[in-house]
Amino acid sequence: LEQFQKGWSTYQKIVDNDVLAHKEVGDILHRTLSAIPDPIDFLDIACGDAGQMQQALANTQVRHYRGIDLSQPALELAAKNLDGVSFDVDLDHSDFVTELTGRHHTSDVSWCGLSVHHLTIDGKRALMQALCDTTSRFLMVYEPIMREGESLESYLDRYARLNKPAWTFLAPEEWDQIFHHISTCDLPETPKAWMELGREAGFMNAREIYVDPAGLYGLYRYDR
Ligand SMILES: C[S@@+](CC[C@H](N)C(=O)[O-])C[C@H]1O[C@@H](n2cnc3c(N)ncnc32)[C@H](O)[C@@H]1O
Repeated sequence: LEQFQKGWSTYQKIVDNDVLAHKEVGDILHRTLSAIPDPIDFLDIACGDAGQMQQALANTQVRHYRGIDLSQPALELAAKNLDGVSFDVDLDHSDFVTELTGRHHTSDVSWCGLSVHHLTIDGKRALMQALCDTTSRFLMVYEPIMREGESLESYLDRYARLNKPAWTFLAPEEWDQIFHHISTCDLPETPKAWMELGREAGFMNAREIYVDPAGLYGLYRYDR
């Protein structure tokens, strides 16, 4: 969390260089929402600066957007990024686990980009159970994936081998800062585990929608 409170500009470089496939994933979200003809209340879990959302939600039936994040600097950017949109916006400066497991909010579509993976497998399941109770249509999460049988150590080796030489837009100390966060905070799951979690949480259907070109992140959809 400290990483995102102090170092949003480093994360911004990663997003701007599209090395985590934000653009493709935002386009998929846009196409998915565009197919819904009814008004949509949209929940963005760990919204960060909501940088993808103006485009992803444009010309859809979204009537209300709620973003939850613990980083005040990110929420200030989110308010700017969502200034002038055609839907109502609420930005909550709070812990999404407390907010969502307390079942404080209902939505039609719930979305989480790159944040559920900070929770243990039991924490992920409990959060998804709460979301299954409060989401009327579907949940989508875009999260890190490991290979079947891969250890966390091998996953981290693979992550550094693929990304460190390619992320030349980061200064060495920025890479170290990001990789420290990934090595100490991230708990990826296999694609199978991400889908099982959704079914165990009570969703009717769980499927993989997209995997990024490096095979490090996957987009999953869970239908009620
Ligand atoms: C990698 S960024 C993802 C931002 C955005 N969703 C995206 O896809 O680019 C992770 C975000 O999760 C937020 N975060 C981490 N743990 C949180 C928690 N328990 N409650 C609320 N926000 C949290 C951080 O502040 C940060 O903005």
